[in-house]
Amino acid sequence: MTADRTLAWNRAMLASPGDLDLQVPASQIDGLLPPDLFGGRLLSNGPGWTRIGQEIAHPFDGHGYVRAFSFSAEGVQLKARFVRSESYEMERAAGSLQVRGLATDLPGGAWRSIRARGVRNVANTTVLQWQDRLLVGWEGGSPHALDPQSLETLGPETFGGVIQGESSLAHMRMASKRLVLVSIGQGRSSTLRFRELDASEQVLASRVEVLPEMIFAHDFALTPDHYVLGGNPMRLHLGKLAKSFAGMGPFFDAVGIDHSKPGVLYLVPRDPNAPLRIISLPGPATVIHFGNAHRTDHATIVDACLFSRFDFGGEFGYCGPHKELDPSLPDARPPQRLYRITIPHGSDQATWRQLTPYAVDFPSFHPAHEGQRTPWLFGAARRDTQFGDPFDSVLAVDLSSQDTPTQIWTAPKEVFVGEPIFAPKAEHTEQGHLLVMLSDALAEESRLAIFDASQVDAGPIAQVPLPLLPVAFHGDWLAP
Ligand SMILES: [Fe+2]
Repeated sequence: MTADRTLAWNRAMLASPGDLDLQVPASQIDGLLPPDLFGGRLLSNGPGWTRIGQEIAHPFDGHGYVRAFSFSAEGVQLKARFVRSESYEMERAAGSLQVRGLATDLPGGAWRSIRARGVRNVANTTVLQWQDRLLVGWEGGSPHALDPQSLETLGPETFGGVIQGESSLAHMRMASKRLVLVSIGQGRSSTLRFRELDASEQVLASRVEVLPEMIFAHDFALTPDHYVLGGNPMRLHLGKLAKSFAGMGPFFDAVGIDHSKPGVLYLVPRDPNAPLRIISLPGPATVIHFGNAHRTDHATIVDACLFSRFDFGGEFGYCGPHKELDPSLPDARPPQRLYRITIPHGSDQATWRQLTPYAVDFPSFHPAHEGQRTPWLFGAARRDTQFGDPFDSVLAVDLSSQDTPTQIWTAPKEVFVGEPIFAPKAEHTEQGHLLVMLSDALAEESRLAIFDASQVDAGPIAQVPLPLLPVAFHGDWLAP
């Protein structure tokens, strides 16, 4: 591990430029902006304030920072705002950590952590447009709503009380103009609540499914028939859980994946009267992110990034509140691999095939193809096939042919690569562009790289220079 890499990663993850309103004129852009992007907007969300007072919060607990890039012939306009959640306002006023997080304890000892009030819903994970507002998602509470133009925070979003008091998954999906939400309640079992809202925010479909064990769920996939979830059975370290309740350690330290159990997927029918299907996978698997899923005449097909073993702790190289991030920590675990999983209709046994030798995460695809066959899957990757995140590459996998080699482009040394977002030329074409944030923290800058999605390995066709922005988690493309 070089000092440069550690410095670059810490600068990239902990950058906190605050509210931004800036214009990058076309004359400053390296290359030409594709006119197909004009009138569209790229959204992204991630932790934008992570070094809080004297402490470094776990990046999962950094405050949500939403960025909106608008494209025109004149150039690119960036507006960035924090999500003004309850915990953000408290900590902005105090200038220090005030609310315990899932993975972050408060300084000042156990007594302070026990007495602390509030839920650290930092709204830092996802962003999408729904009706007249943006929704920013977080694991464990309601999403927040933002004004789509000003990015002003409107408050927690419960869809008229539909998800009041529930713990939502950070990921939401949109298909056939429906917003699909999943909430989860944990105990010895997991109670999942699925809801599909239409444009008038009526609940068109809902289903409650009680799974026989406690699972870890962050994302899900959709087919016309099913919601698809990873099995991801959790186990609790009771001693550490007791310590967490006593204010002597974050909740995250007390949970883990139970690797003694085989890999499974849950296929939950969207038809409320059809039975749950529990699908055995060929080997151990923990799913954090799904790609797409669809149905053929013979099978349900699911693309997912799978860890053969997943242990909580050390995400993003987090070493605690008073140590710098160590980007070599994720290298110690088996990386996430992209698999195509085939589940024959009527069967409870899946087969699978690894789609590329590279580790892949942040899978994305044509947004109009949600739940349907799609020709290409894009992702963030690592050029060295042994390792996963932090990522240095962007790749494209041809899902229609096993013979097509993966297209991969790798950023310069110590430049980190974020989630690629696919911006289609039009809803019904397969052509489009990939929008990818590059963090060149040693040069104190970020660059928004734009690729022709059909020629990822040819490199960016345009790069937009930007101030150094913190590494984001997830984003979305708003078509013109
Ligand atoms: Fe995610």
